[in-house]
Amino acid sequence: MTTHKIATLPGDGIGNEVVPVAMDVVNRLGEMHGFTMEWEIQDWGCERYVREGSMMPSDALDQIASSDAIFLGAVGAPGVPDHVSLWGMLIPIRRRFDQYVNLRPAKILRGIPSPLKDDRAQNFDMVVIRENVEGEYSAIGGRLYSGSDNELAIQENVFTRRGVTRVMAYAFELAQKRGNHLTSATKSNGIIHTMPFWDEIFDEMSARHADVTVDQYHIDALVAMFVLDPSRFDVVVASNLFGDILTDLSAAMAGSIGIAPSANINPERIHPSMFEPVHGSAPDIAGKGIANPIGQVWSAVLMLEHLGHPVAAKHLMHSMEEVIASEVRTPDIGGTATTHEVAEALMAQID
Ligand code: NAI
Ligand code: MG
Repeated sequence: MTTHKIATLPGDGIGNEVVPVAMDVVNRLGEMHGFTMEWEIQDWGCERYVREGSMMPSDALDQIASSDAIFLGAVGAPGVPDHVSLWGMLIPIRRRFDQYVNLRPAKILRGIPSPLKDDRAQNFDMVVIRENVEGEYSAIGGRLYSGSDNELAIQENVFTRRGVTRVMAYAFELAQKRGNHLTSATKSNGIIHTMPFWDEIFDEMSARHADVTVDQYHIDALVAMFVLDPSRFDVVVASNLFGDILTDLSAAMAGSIGIAPSANINPERIHPSMFEPVHGSAPDIAGKGIANPIGQVWSAVLMLEHLGHPVAAKHLMHSMEEVIASEVRTPDIGGTATTHEVAEALMAQID
């Protein structure tokens, strides 16, 4: 029996409602497929911040460094500025553990209505690879002359050859395992230093992966194409900011942000990778028992794949798709079911 140590961080809001659902179903799969999860649950998040002045303890990252994976719900709460919760927990984890690939699949699941009406938009199946540790999300910069007419803010973008090359290498390899088609998100017409650099490296990498068909679009045109003709995309590689925006869009196109999963991957496996839904803590519905647990459960599918349990991962993905098709759905995807009812249906389907 393989045992995996999972640092479990439900976080805030609906994170506390959907993480337990995913833990239960993974435990059941473990009984059937021969593995055990040791869930090491931590209460890190905004409540801790309000109580103790920090999102997590000062040695938090050391505490979880030896875990096999990190399973996160969401962070963020009204009253705590979003940059505090993000930079106090999520971003330090992604950076310390060099989780430079953020993998976000999006596809239409059977039975979920997409807000896109056009036929061409009804069948898409894509993965966005978002650069996850540099780019536009940098702490370099500053503010001056606050409160005066001369007030200013400067924020630097950081693109390194190593950082861009390695995330693109991951995207090319993924494209080779899927439809051999990779799209790059750029904006080299407006952002004239970092984005031409991004494009040059993409050209170099394309020459080294001649079997992969490539194209590239400026981000503004690309978002329009996502909506008008998403089935033309297979794998899309994007910088930190562009990937962030593209994946809220792709999640919405697939029916709801409540179903979208993500994996923050350290491909070299020197450090633990982290699995979390794309959505946030959803304070508007927290505590009502209606949060969609599918994004968290699908994230568990990605975690099982990463931990070397492809059969269990397929079992869970299939069960999830069957439950959605059977119309046991939360309100965000057009149903009336509660979180608990979806959880029960999932358990039954897994059995
Ligand atoms: P959000 O994703 O929490 O919510 C956006 C909308 O989608 C809301 O109407 C919400 O009810 C709905 N929604 C989200 N997940 C759902 C689910 N599982 N089932 C049903 N409906 C769902 O994004 P928002 O409102 O911008 O942010 C709320 C808080 O979450 C903020 O503090 C923000 O900083 C934080 N946040 C955290 C993230 C993370 O931990 N990775 C990611 C995004 C936001
Ligand atoms: Mg986002």
